[in-house]
Amino acid sequence: MPRPMSEPLRLHYLAPGELPLEALEAVAARVLCDEEKARAARFVFSRDRVLFMAAHVLVRQLLSERTGQAAAQLRFEVGPHGKPELSQPGRTPALRFNLSHCDGLVACAVLDGHPVGVDVEHLDRRVAVESLAPRVLSGRELQGLEALGGEARRRRFLQLWTAKEAYVKALGDGLTLELRDLTVELDAASPAIVHAGADSATGPCQLSLWEPTPEHVMAAVVCAPEAPVVEMMPATIDAQ
Ligand SMILES: CC(C)(COP(=O)(O)OP(=O)(O)OC[C@H]1O[C@@H](n2cnc3c(N)ncnc32)[C@H](O)[C@@H]1OP(=O)(O)O)[C@@H](O)C(=O)NCCC(=O)NCCS
Repeated sequence: MPRPMSEPLRLHYLAPGELPLEALEAVAARVLCDEEKARAARFVFSRDRVLFMAAHVLVRQLLSERTGQAAAQLRFEVGPHGKPELSQPGRTPALRFNLSHCDGLVACAVLDGHPVGVDVEHLDRRVAVESLAPRVLSGRELQGLEALGGEARRRRFLQLWTAKEAYVKALGDGLTLELRDLTVELDAASPAIVHAGADSATGPCQLSLWEPTPEHVMAAVVCAPEAPVVEMMPATIDAQ
């Protein structure tokens, strides 16, 4: 039986372009593990490397604050479909987190006890709405999209996409889910995700959706029976 939500969902976000590069590189050299450093070094474009370093330093700093462990000492385990979780033998409830990064924004969701997924997308992201929509949207979502044209149509698609990504990431199932079975209800009093038929298999989930900047859409999904209180927290990287 899932526990009711007692802890708030904390959503930390930052714009990596605003960080002083030297300070970021110095803290990344101190706290990232060898595998993270190797991944950072493989990026061709500096902008992607900065985004990756900022994201992974932020995760380590946030989890370090919550656990009292040094950021560099934290270890992660990767689930069967690639979802990283903090390695925390004996900690009850488990501290959960999820990370997302896109052009100009990093977001990290942290909460106790319930699986969480977060996704951020740039609203200017090039996206082939007409070819993707029939592959990932439910009939009801497609109908809603039909009523919209131009920029409103693209924006709606990106909101639906971001919400579904957050759901996929909360479950940690990668793309083993049939996305057309999910309906994101954006017009309801509060946004929700309805899973056609199989909700009992995945359990109830709670969706939150924002535009944290004029250029970005962000969604978070928590697998829990009750909606969490959400705290949106602009983050900084501590270079000390
Ligand atoms: C991981 C995945 C689920 C999301 O990736 P993404 O949107 O490209 O990237 P994000 O920045 O949001 O998330 C990446 C982070 O999520 C985490 N992650 C990786 N695999 C994950 C998984 N299976 N579940 C949850 N989180 C995962 C990691 O922390 C990763 O960060 P890193 O690459 O720096 O280590 C991706 O592999 C995927 O399968 N995307 C689905 C694509 C799609 O067609 N979606 C349709 C939606 S309508």
